[in-house]
Amino acid sequence: SSEELWLSYSQPLNNKLKETYTSKIKHIQIKTFSETGEIIKTELQMLATKMLDTSISFTSTTPQIIIAKIDNLDSKFKQKINSQSLVNNESFIIQTITVHQKDLLIITGKTDISLLYGTYCFIKQLQLHKDISSISITDSPKIQLRILNHWDNLDGTVERGYAGFSIWDWHLLPGFKKEIYYEYARANASIGINGTVLNNVNSNAYILTSPYLQKVKTLADIFRPYGIKVYLTARFSAPIELGKLPTADPLNEEVIQWWKSKISEIYKEIPDFGGFLIKANSEGQPGPNTYGRSHVEGANMLATLLEPYQGVVMWRAFVYSEQQSEDRAKQAFNEFAPFDGAFKENVLVQVKNGPIDFQPREPYHPLFGAMPKTSLMMEFQITQEYLGQGSHLVFLPKLYEEVLSTDTYAKGKGSTIAKIIDGELYQDHRITGMAGVANIGTETNWTGHPFAQANWYGFGRQAWDPTTSAESIAKEWLSMTFTTDSLFIQQMTPLLINSREAVVNYMTPLGLHHIMNAEHHYGPGPWIANMSRPDWNSIYYHRADSLGLGFDRTQTGSNALEQYPKEIQEQFSNIHTIPEAYLLWFYHVPWDFKMKNGHTLWYTMAWYYQQGVNEVKNMQQTWEHMQPYVNNDIYQDTRMLLEIQYSEAQWWRNACLLYFQQFAKMPLPEFIPEIP
Ligand code: GCU
Repeated sequence: SSEELWLSYSQPLNNKLKETYTSKIKHIQIKTFSETGEIIKTELQMLATKMLDTSISFTSTTPQIIIAKIDNLDSKFKQKINSQSLVNNESFIIQTITVHQKDLLIITGKTDISLLYGTYCFIKQLQLHKDISSISITDSPKIQLRILNHWDNLDGTVERGYAGFSIWDWHLLPGFKKEIYYEYARANASIGINGTVLNNVNSNAYILTSPYLQKVKTLADIFRPYGIKVYLTARFSAPIELGKLPTADPLNEEVIQWWKSKISEIYKEIPDFGGFLIKANSEGQPGPNTYGRSHVEGANMLATLLEPYQGVVMWRAFVYSEQQSEDRAKQAFNEFAPFDGAFKENVLVQVKNGPIDFQPREPYHPLFGAMPKTSLMMEFQITQEYLGQGSHLVFLPKLYEEVLSTDTYAKGKGSTIAKIIDGELYQDHRITGMAGVANIGTETNWTGHPFAQANWYGFGRQAWDPTTSAESIAKEWLSMTFTTDSLFIQQMTPLLINSREAVVNYMTPLGLHHIMNAEHHYGPGPWIANMSRPDWNSIYYHRADSLGLGFDRTQTGSNALEQYPKEIQEQFSNIHTIPEAYLLWFYHVPWDFKMKNGHTLWYTMAWYYQQGVNEVKNMQQTWEHMQPYVNNDIYQDTRMLLEIQYSEAQWWRNACLLYFQQFAKMPLPEFIPEIP
């Protein structure tokens, strides 16, 4: 069985707190007879055993805690609770009330799942060593669909996965229900993730065959009591591959009939099936364009058929074509923005956070704010494709926070991306969602790098509430996973928070992007120039020449800038006012351009590369003092990984500076150590 992530309940706890907690949770009444109720019971018992060396008696006589749906609460308790604040089916209330001079803790909500969420939240208070004597918490998710996207192939490999193989054992399913499926559901439920797309966006169609649907059904049955729905990537050409039809044209009657009966078959097995994720006409995947049809025609055809079952279509906007001479960064916007308002209500357009592809830093995707009549779903990557993969420590909630808090000005100042995707900005919005490309695999610690667990955790937290700060996530995760010791938290929180800027600095400072080595995207490759498609070459993105560095996306260049709102255009269309973090994304900048620090671009870029290296050194130095707080395996593994990260940060610095120097023709600044 795998590690228990942030749910091991094994952090050190002093005796006083142990006694206090023990005295308060001895007798619990769970007033629900569902599978979810059993899960709640098991979880609380695990907490008691592991954290408090005690056991709970589940009883209806003089309980200290009552866990019950609001409708099942005795009216004398119910009247003390503000049930108005249960705004949706996943909201919960944890509240201490006084009855006959005695404290009683109530965990309530409208559904079993809300009770599960409330229980996990309550447990978290104990994990964080909070005072629970007069607890009062009301919470509810701000985003409806909080979904992991597994890029898992049916052969067990995981595209862009760095944590072993797929945890789905298609061979042994449906008969064999591996323990890890339950552990997976538990971990996700604890952070509010309520959906999972089981298969890769580059998928073959077999997942839709009847034998595979049986396997999918087994997983759906396991996940259901944890509040998790199953979704599938559907290959658009499935009617050809499985149905032996000559076409997959979405307007063709036979094609529609094929999907119709396939969908009905799915819902017979899985009545709460979530719906389809589709990658269409992107990177060689089939789609409606193949038949002269639009994204809208493709998406709406499936949406119409899913509608009677309350299923959704998550149609990805990650499209770009080498046949176009247009800047890749502009293509998704050009293709999708004109369709605003044309998608059916159960279609979500799933947009990556930036216009290129999960880089260490990108400006936000200009579709956010540009499609007010469409449900836009955020797609983040949790797996670290362009971010050092399995070996670099990079705390991604910091990246997510930067994106989510970005102002799009779509409805005036304060129109953050968080407010677009959680629907706050557009009250008419029907469905809201956030997807994260999973970093989970068969490694015993789930994620390969021990600290990559924090990215899974953080994604869940920010999908629940996109205004959650990265810092609070770091503190929670560190406390729940290792220890609440304040010395540990004080030193490790900044390490996590700064790790994102470190990777930007040693890989792609100042707005550089997509200069990783080709195909695998690991390590530096600014020289890549001979890929089959121009937009897969690094030189396409950095455009280094004797005059300077960077991609001119202003009016004199591709003018991708014009896709952004005027407030951003105003600031970014002046080379002196654009934030330097985005400089080389939008400008081709002379090597001797004077930066804000008074030095040249060349010098400053070198400074950032060195800064990134130094930051990793700092991480190593901090970590050296952390041995007393973590178990030896984690200590040693992380120490070795940081050593790799440090040498690779140097590799990045050296490779990029030496490569760019042939164009800059300027000496390396004195602070750069001699490059071997
Ligand atoms: C990236 C990634 C691919 C993936 C694609 C996508 O380009 O490298 O492996 O298929 O994104 O999101 O569809």
